[in-house]
Amino acid sequence: MPVPGPGYSITIRVEAPSSASAAGDLTSAVGRVGGVITAFDVVDSHADRVVVDITCNALSANHAKDITDTLEVLPGIVVRKISDRTFLMHLGGKIEVTSKVQLKNRDDLSRAYTPGVARICQAIAANPEDARRLTIKRNTVAVVTDGSAVLGLGNLGPAAALPVMEGKAALFKKFAGVDAWPVCLDTQDTEEIIRAVELIAPVYGGINLEDIAAPRCFEIEARLREKLDIPVFHDDQHGTAIVVVGALRNALRVVGKDIEKCKIAVCGVGAAGSAIIRLLLRQTPADIVAVDVDGIVHAGRDGMDPNLVWIAEHTNREGVTGNLHDALVDADVFIGVSAPNLFGAEQVATMAKDAIVFALANPDPEIDPIEAQKHAAVVATGRSDFPNQINNVLAFPGVFRGLLDAHAKTITDSMLLAAANAIADVVEGDRLNASYIVPSVFDSAVAPAVADAVRKAAADRD
Ligand SMILES: NC(=O)c1ccc[n+]([C@@H]2O[C@H](COP(=O)([O-])OP(=O)(O)OC[C@H]3O[C@@H](n4cnc5c(N)ncnc54)[C@H](O)[C@@H]3O)[C@@H](O)[C@H]2O)c1
Repeated sequence: MPVPGPGYSITIRVEAPSSASAAGDLTSAVGRVGGVITAFDVVDSHADRVVVDITCNALSANHAKDITDTLEVLPGIVVRKISDRTFLMHLGGKIEVTSKVQLKNRDDLSRAYTPGVARICQAIAANPEDARRLTIKRNTVAVVTDGSAVLGLGNLGPAAALPVMEGKAALFKKFAGVDAWPVCLDTQDTEEIIRAVELIAPVYGGINLEDIAAPRCFEIEARLREKLDIPVFHDDQHGTAIVVVGALRNALRVVGKDIEKCKIAVCGVGAAGSAIIRLLLRQTPADIVAVDVDGIVHAGRDGMDPNLVWIAEHTNREGVTGNLHDALVDADVFIGVSAPNLFGAEQVATMAKDAIVFALANPDPEIDPIEAQKHAAVVATGRSDFPNQINNVLAFPGVFRGLLDAHAKTITDSMLLAAANAIADVVEGDRLNASYIVPSVFDSAVAPAVADAVRKAAADRD
């Protein structure tokens, strides 16, 4: 099912005979082992040989090696160098600080730094609110992690989490002009994380928590929201919930159903699933049945943590028990944020007519989307190689743009819902169909629309 992609893109520099057939031999050899060539550049040429850079997408690191090995054994071919383009992109990191002011002479220096800066410090000391006016605070977000749940890779620690946080910061800047900076903490102790964020908060206009494992992430976010006078947002929870709820709004438009009449099965009650359920509940669906690794969540199930107890209290009106397959029967909507390959087309067939399936586990979804399409009316995944990609990039840049512009001190469910609706509404009526329920992540209308919605929701609150 997976196809070669740019995540495993390599450039192989080879020396080849200058014969007419050499280029064809090279490209067919790459094609034979399943590589997808994206560029073929002759970088040097001599009477008897040429030097060529072949850039191609592979499926995995092992597949990239297979491609190289195949070229190496071709007659007359010498492989000179292999560059992994993803590693090249990360050399020295992906972001930097640049000065917004010119420092050309002593005069500039005296105003940007001492002695002039002293008056700015005194102004802020006299009126702390001036920090938003006179410092980076008004446009800066801390991207905070403890490295305990890095992507789907698990507990890799703070240093290994840094490439993800840098990427996040780059996306903040690209899509919403927000200056975000990675803060990777060398602790996984809840109290230490809370204290560390509290201590750095004066610099920032918002805190984006990232890749912190559940259930610790729930307490950290809740406690920081109480303590800080800036918004705290755990993207793995709320960014996902915003995009899912926005996508669902459009999927329901496609099938002509009203959420208040829908039964929704949610598989995965961790960081993403819990936040999705909480936001969905704001729209009063007919019922939600939550399922985790231990089966359907219901009141009275043994061994539930406080989060699951809350979910059990607010979902599953009929008190059903059993497993995911039981939860799918007659469900109008399936939302999966759990684990790969949990069911097949035969279970989708047991869902209600015009079923909606969001199988979002990464990198492999709960059901192969091709299988899901056999019986579902709308299918979405987290993958970029299928239509309807549910991607948090649609939400977090615009959300923080709006929060920072509004000088928001907190974030509310109304703001999250406003952001979800804004994402949905970017897909205007005649563009909406079963294969296009969310806008592209590169749609430049998304972040401003989300920011505007969040600003308005923040203003309504004041
Ligand atoms: N596409 C997206 O936009 C997006 C966004 C967020 C999360 N995700 C994906 O969702 C998944 C969960 O992410 P998370 O951060 O909430 O993780 P998490 O570890 O906090 O939660 C995982 C949940 O899945 C449940 N689970 C695990 N195996 C299961 C099984 N076999 N059957 C039923 N439930 C099972 C666990 O009990 C837990 O409730 C990951 O694959 C993640 O990549 C996708």
